[in-house]
Amino acid sequence: MIIGFVIGESKPTSISAQTSRPLAVGEYIIIDSEENRLLGLVEKTIVSSAALTDVHNYDEAVESKEIADINSRDKSFTTKIMILGSLSSLKKGVVVIPAIPPFPGTPILEASKKDLESVFNPSNSSWSKIGTLLRNPQIELKININKIVTRHFGILAMTGMGKSNLVAIIAKEIAKLNGTLIIFDYHNDYDNLNIKKMNVMDAKINPRLLDANTLADVLEIRENADVQQRILRLALTQNVKESKEFWDELYKQVEFVGANPERKEDRHSADRVCDKIDDARHRFADILDPDIIDPISLIKEFRINILNISEFSEKQANVVLAYYLQELLTDKKLSTITKNSKNKRKKYRFNSPVFVIIEEAHVFIPKFEDTHAKYWASKIAREGRKFGLGIGIVSQRPRNIDSNVLSQIGSFAIMKIIQEDDQRQIAYAVESISKDLISQLTSLNVGDAVLVGQCVNLPTLIHIDEAKEKIIGSDPNAVEEWKKMMLFNNTTMDSRELVNKDLLL
Ligand SMILES: Nc1ncnc2c1ncn2[C@@H]1O[C@H](COP(=O)(O)OP(=O)(O)OP(=O)(O)O)[C@@H](O)[C@H]1O
Ligand SMILES: [Mg+2]
Repeated sequence: MIIGFVIGESKPTSISAQTSRPLAVGEYIIIDSEENRLLGLVEKTIVSSAALTDVHNYDEAVESKEIADINSRDKSFTTKIMILGSLSSLKKGVVVIPAIPPFPGTPILEASKKDLESVFNPSNSSWSKIGTLLRNPQIELKININKIVTRHFGILAMTGMGKSNLVAIIAKEIAKLNGTLIIFDYHNDYDNLNIKKMNVMDAKINPRLLDANTLADVLEIRENADVQQRILRLALTQNVKESKEFWDELYKQVEFVGANPERKEDRHSADRVCDKIDDARHRFADILDPDIIDPISLIKEFRINILNISEFSEKQANVVLAYYLQELLTDKKLSTITKNSKNKRKKYRFNSPVFVIIEEAHVFIPKFEDTHAKYWASKIAREGRKFGLGIGIVSQRPRNIDSNVLSQIGSFAIMKIIQEDDQRQIAYAVESISKDLISQLTSLNVGDAVLVGQCVNLPTLIHIDEAKEKIIGSDPNAVEEWKKMMLFNNTTMDSRELVNKDLLL
């Protein structure tokens, strides 16, 4: 059905059109040019009325409205459309932009369900459904899982807009494909996902495997506490690392270093280090385990692995993440090299691709700070593709994420973002996002997203499915919870009063 015509100046990548109805931003249309049917995306729509322009007072507005109502030519719907490419090539996942722009007068058609399905809902097995097109909800939207795993994925949005929900949907899809996923769960968001054979575990660190600087981070010794840092460095000897009772030996060694008669001033700092060892060893007994041989061995191949890091401080979580990322990359590198060589005898932990999702990426991969986790995440972003190791980064503060890592990411799902600094960072890091799409980000609702990059054939506005069983991240209903607590308190108070009365009688 014809819904409009190309007008004014056309370019190979964009046209303007006048249409019979206002087209919604994000809607897909067909530009029916003679040689080629082109798929277009509505980027901007301006609705105006000739009679109601330049109106200066109320009476004039009333009269102009009457004129506007009876004059069918009064309203104009001017639309800016981005040309996405020839429909026939997009079906094959190839973008071919016309050499000659569509001529003014070329008809604009509604895109049919069949046209859209062929582009957004490929039947190839590497594509998985995560939602529906925002403006064409009858069309299911699939993403190419291969591309997010090998070319990395970013999920960026303000808080509460649906990032973790999307992670949950992706986890469910990867589970269906028997893939290996590791989620570093900083907020205990994922342990109740309804996924068969999900592997939920506490991340663990073996303190023996750490160098002195990293151990200082884990023990929460401040960076500027130079004397404490030095004492720990001297105390963490190879003997201590190899001793049966790691913590006791480390404690003794710190006392020994602090008792140096030539440096009496060290005594106090050594006592502080001993306190910190005591504190960490008791507070983090479950996660700092000197007897665990290989923390990575807890992760299972072909499973959704939820690594709980919610008990850790930021610094400790950083150490955990760095350790796991380093081990994963080393393992994947060696297993790939071995796979390609004749010597296939040695077994590695992971012999197939692994996808790792890092929440709170602005904390672990910060822009203006060099952390261990950032070092290994950047390395995976640069080299992971070759070895089948992908990262997914999730953040509500894109402006604080390291730009180099962002620029290595092949695909993004971007939800509502209001802050201009965040939008600027996205515009800078994400090649395939246009200014007009960026300006849409403020108006998205919960669960809506702009998908760009290699995981989709085209930049796409979608609504993500809701992981129904998931109660993660939902806002607490404060009023209901207070009401329940009040009822509960009243009932227990009443029964206590009854008991007291009984006792008095
Ligand atoms: N696609 C969706 N459809 C409907 N509701 C959704 C959708 N995505 C998220 N929600 C709802 O919005 C709320 C917040 O979602 P979610 O926890 O995924 O946000 P978030 O971006 O991860 O937040 P945070 O920054 O706090 O981690 C949840 O209650 C969830 O049920
Ligand atoms: Mg979340």
